[in-house]
Amino acid sequence: MANILVTGGAGYIGSHTCVELFNANHDVVVFDNLSNSSIESLNRVQELTGKSLTFVEGDIRNSEQLDQVFALHKIDAVIHFAGLKAVGESQQLPLIYFDNNIAGSINLVNAMQRAEVFKLVFSSSATVYDEANISPLNEDMPTGMPSNNYGYTKLIVEQLLQKLSIADERWSIALLRYFNPVGAHKSGRIGEDPQGIPNNLMPYVTQVAVGRREKLAIFGHDYDTVDGTGVRDYIHVVDLANAHLCALNNRLQNIGCRAWNIGTGNGSSVLQVKNTFEQVNGVPVAFEFAPRREGDVATSFANNQRAMDELGWTANYTLEDMLKDSWHWQKQNPKGYGDI
Ligand code: NAD
Ligand code: UFG
Repeated sequence: MANILVTGGAGYIGSHTCVELFNANHDVVVFDNLSNSSIESLNRVQELTGKSLTFVEGDIRNSEQLDQVFALHKIDAVIHFAGLKAVGESQQLPLIYFDNNIAGSINLVNAMQRAEVFKLVFSSSATVYDEANISPLNEDMPTGMPSNNYGYTKLIVEQLLQKLSIADERWSIALLRYFNPVGAHKSGRIGEDPQGIPNNLMPYVTQVAVGRREKLAIFGHDYDTVDGTGVRDYIHVVDLANAHLCALNNRLQNIGCRAWNIGTGNGSSVLQVKNTFEQVNGVPVAFEFAPRREGDVATSFANNQRAMDELGWTANYTLEDMLKDSWHWQKQNPKGYGDI
């Protein structure tokens, strides 16, 4: 079993991945500056698994803090979630996004190299694909120029990591291109806890259902899709967490840099998500149609064959599971971790 450094491990996807790492008997060191998360998520990870993790409060832009972590803990591999992810904010504050996501990632791989740790799993995004590609998107399709600065940072880091692995064969890097992570751990103890007004569909839906927001604005209903609303590939966060373990196993045995799509391969429209949420949870979600959101594409879903063939990974959860689990988390924690 390996000792895994998880940057951004207190966040939404990171906390679920820590649970799965413990379930697979790995040891976990979390490094997080808590800029978008609460330490309570890690308390609950420990409560759920009965295991204890090492938490280091630190910033990936700080070399000294990173060197200290590698000096104190014998790390075998790194799963790198740390970064900022709000698309709108990235348009207003590009330098902060370049600094945290690009400079922070360069700083991390530098520290890894000094410590001679060369196994890395990086959180990338389906946003790196060129918008002209037609779904299902596969990894051989061209990447493009993302419509926002957040997406741009993911593309740049992917390209830097690819070049690094070509220059130095000691590196073994997985680029996981997430589609749309939703859902929560079955227990309802950990889940997504966005600060302020949610940018993404699922937390907005659950916050309307729980009475924190008045109604959902559906951005556009004149797209060329099944019902005119945008189509995305929603993936349960526990399936996504498990993809990191599969990627880790693959990287412990291989060199180079390779990308894998992590999605179910199924597209669901906004109206389908809203209607299914109401059906499976028996709770209404008030909504109105609003203009299209700038930068949105009509349809995006994955071809996930490469992850199935090469990583031995499959998505096990249905859309109904995702919507039930999102609601279970929100209902039990109406104010997220702010409830404690
Ligand atoms: P999150 O905000 O819940 O988690 C990110 C964590 O990183 C937070 O705990 C935050 O405090 C920490 N962090 C941010 N900047 C840091 C820094 N400079 N130093 C140390 N820690 C820092 O987000 P998430 O949804 O769990 O996403 C995890 C990763 O996956 C991110 O890199 C994100 O861009 C990527 N991703 C997310 C989605 C999505 O829809 N959630 C989609 C594609 C890719
Ligand atoms: N939507 C609404 N109302 C909302 C929020 C979203 O109608 O209040 C719609 C969007 O227009 C889109 C769908 O719901 O059709 C999904 O939107 P999300 O914001 O949940 O997800 P995106 O596909 O836009 O964003 C995701 C990730 C980003 C990433 C982006 C790029 O969350 O991190 O994919 O593909 F950058």
